[in-house]
Amino acid sequence: MSAPKTFSIKSFGCQMNVYDGERMAELLGAEGMAPAEPGADADVVVLNTCHIREKAAEKAYSEVGRLRREDGSRPVIALAGCVAQAEGAEAKRRSKSIDLVVGPQAYHRLPQLLRDVEGGARPVDTDLPPLDKFAALPRRRRAGVSAFLSVQEGCDKFCTYCVVPYTRGAEVSRPIADLLDEAAQLVDGGTREITLLGQNVNAWEDGQETLATLIRRLAMLDGLERIRYTTSHPINMADDLIAAHAEVPELMPYLHLPVQAGSNRILKAMNRHHTAEEYLATIARVRAANPEIAISGDFIVGFPGETEEDFAATLRIVGQVGYASAFTFKYSARPGTPAATMDDQVPERVKDERLQRLQALVMEQSRAFNASKVGATTRILIDRNGRRDGQMIGKSPWLQSVFVDTDAGIGDMVDVRLTAALPNSIAGELVTKVTQQAA
Ligand code: SAH
Ligand code: SF4
Ligand code: F3S
Repeated sequence: MSAPKTFSIKSFGCQMNVYDGERMAELLGAEGMAPAEPGADADVVVLNTCHIREKAAEKAYSEVGRLRREDGSRPVIALAGCVAQAEGAEAKRRSKSIDLVVGPQAYHRLPQLLRDVEGGARPVDTDLPPLDKFAALPRRRRAGVSAFLSVQEGCDKFCTYCVVPYTRGAEVSRPIADLLDEAAQLVDGGTREITLLGQNVNAWEDGQETLATLIRRLAMLDGLERIRYTTSHPINMADDLIAAHAEVPELMPYLHLPVQAGSNRILKAMNRHHTAEEYLATIARVRAANPEIAISGDFIVGFPGETEEDFAATLRIVGQVGYASAFTFKYSARPGTPAATMDDQVPERVKDERLQRLQALVMEQSRAFNASKVGATTRILIDRNGRRDGQMIGKSPWLQSVFVDTDAGIGDMVDVRLTAALPNSIAGELVTKVTQQAA
């Protein structure tokens, strides 16, 4: 086999999985490989998988099958991400086409693993050495206007439904010096907004430093206009982080704070470590600090033992919070997690029906949230072209996509008046162009 020249990386999972995909692309780029043109065959395909729900893993395996070309040949296929971690060598048995398996903490060794494949091996690397990979990765290249920065890896919370503690290993915070350095590299490359990532990002710490102090230091970086963070756990919503929402203008008024369910009995069975009342009290403190803040969340319907009464409590808490947006999931039993073997698994049709009711409520709330902003003048960060000539799309502070006719370009910030709420976005009218991105 000749040495691989082009690659493509497909990410299926959460933002941390997307971040890993970007770092793998940078790594292969530094090895002299080039990303394949869109639509063209790549010599190496990395499937950066997600294991969180049943369908996500199935998707990855069916993707492997689809990589076979018309002439019967196929690219070198690397299975990466959380399915790779969970399945390990089993993945090679499930699909003969998988050439190598590499976990989310081991992908800095991807170049060597590809060389092993060239030598005829089918290597599996699912070691979980905390933070080793970061030192071995190349410097950040020119990233997007809005970039992700993983500040924390793994999870120690062990919610009873969740695979993440098993696929990502123990919760580890990256040192502050590394993070400030990586953020500076991103800003040098043109990034204007950074989203700090971690499974429990608000539990990030380094000595006396907390997520709030990290945010305050990042806010001082020249050229970094906006800071976001995700995902937070309700029990780690510290006072200093809430205060930062009142005091740091660069910190966007948006908080993703999953509650999963409204019933205390279910929250306990999920091992979430808080009650519905404690969650509501946290939301009230956040809103007292910044009344403008948009709240989003995650919900699971049909957790084992969930009764109609429990589900009514979920609808109730959604009604009490008033979400700007929310992700809703049907409970999916994951092998090896405690909930998978609990009694009273909820039938699929009951889950379907509850999901529909919850989604209808959540959609009504996001429509109401978007409508409440119509008439306001706000600043957007332009991150892509619109469908029409002269139309651009940017993000509001509340993470809404805003369409506007302007000659401003990607990376510019413009002030717009929000004129109409559409189902998944908002239309805006240009007020003034604020800053021009240096070429
Ligand atoms: N660490 C984050 C998110 C992890 S996964 C947190 O704690 O909020 C993202 C979301 O997927 C979770 O918030 C949860 O709503 C959902 N999820 C996780 N495991 C699931 C499962 N087994 N079935 C259905 N949804 C699940
Ligand atoms: Fe999964 Fe819970 Fe950890 Fe989130 S906090 S990653 S839901 S175990
Ligand atoms: Fe999926 Fe792994 Fe993220 S299981 S949600 S890609 S941490």
